[in-house]
Amino acid sequence: MDLLEEIKNIEQEVEKKFENVKDLDQLEELRVKYLGKNGKVKQIFSKMGQVDDDKKPIVGKETNILKNKIQNLYNEIKEKKEKELKEKKLKEETIDVTLPGVKSNIGHKNPFTHIIDEVVELFLGMGFSIEEGPEVETEYYNFEALNIPEDHPARDLQDTLYIDDKYLLRTHTSPVQIRTMEKQDPPIRIIAPGRVYRSDELDASHSPNFHQIEGLVIDKDISFSDLKGTIEEFVHQMYGEDREIRFRPSYFPFTEPSAEVDVSCNVCGGEGCSFCSYTGWVEVLGSGMVHPNVLRMSGLDPDVYSGFAFGMGWDRIAMLKYDINDIRVLYENDKRFIHQF
Ligand code: DAH
Repeated sequence: MDLLEEIKNIEQEVEKKFENVKDLDQLEELRVKYLGKNGKVKQIFSKMGQVDDDKKPIVGKETNILKNKIQNLYNEIKEKKEKELKEKKLKEETIDVTLPGVKSNIGHKNPFTHIIDEVVELFLGMGFSIEEGPEVETEYYNFEALNIPEDHPARDLQDTLYIDDKYLLRTHTSPVQIRTMEKQDPPIRIIAPGRVYRSDELDASHSPNFHQIEGLVIDKDISFSDLKGTIEEFVHQMYGEDREIRFRPSYFPFTEPSAEVDVSCNVCGGEGCSFCSYTGWVEVLGSGMVHPNVLRMSGLDPDVYSGFAFGMGWDRIAMLKYDINDIRVLYENDKRFIHQF
């Protein structure tokens, strides 16, 4: 067969084959078959030697035309196939924005955290700083240094969770008073929030593990009116300006004089109801002037320094503020409860 005829045959064959290409792999196969190193076009060029001299230019020209034609066909179809592929992919990957999303599981602050954030901000504003102490305490810090006598009922096994002869789980945050006075010279102005423990059965108003916030102020010339002013400021900011406050004489071994502080009942406004046992008042904290024995045991001279202290139930603040009537819900971490605050 003469080469010109061969070129023509290839031309016809190529058109059909390229037209029917299914994908890029097949297209590549065709490129190798016709334009590759041992492809059909190369084969024609290699047969050039056999062609008569006068026919060489025309055969050469036709071969080049064929080569360009195949190359163009290849480019055209490659572009088309790539575009199709891209469109198909885009279609498959479309996001349906009307589908409901996947909810991420976000945590939430416990009421304790809300309360302490508020309390801390309030006391920081009055120049206090925050102290912490260990939950596993010695009898000395929890009782002895706080002037609590050997035979005091709080020391009883019935009330206190002892670890061994020497260590116990602190029953209040008051030991932080002692630890602070031991390491820091007056003036002292601290609050100490933390977890405390008592050997109580769990019920709606008792939990063997609960929380307190302790306060201590020591300086020269601190008087009961400083205690009163500080507590009044705290109660009004925390519970509302319209709440009435009452200081009731009381007894704590580590303060003298001692007072319990009540605020007018939030449920009845002071009229008397079942919530306040028909007294019109709710108790919010214990307080007093630091006992000279306590100052002395912590290395401070009671003739030079005086101070006041107070302690309150952190759980109780949360319950009063959020109208919670069962202490247990504060510890269960049920998200349906926690997410309400
Ligand atoms: N520690 C006492 C308690 O757990 C509360 C308390 C009362 C703390 C009077 C004080 C205070 O600092 O002055 O019941």
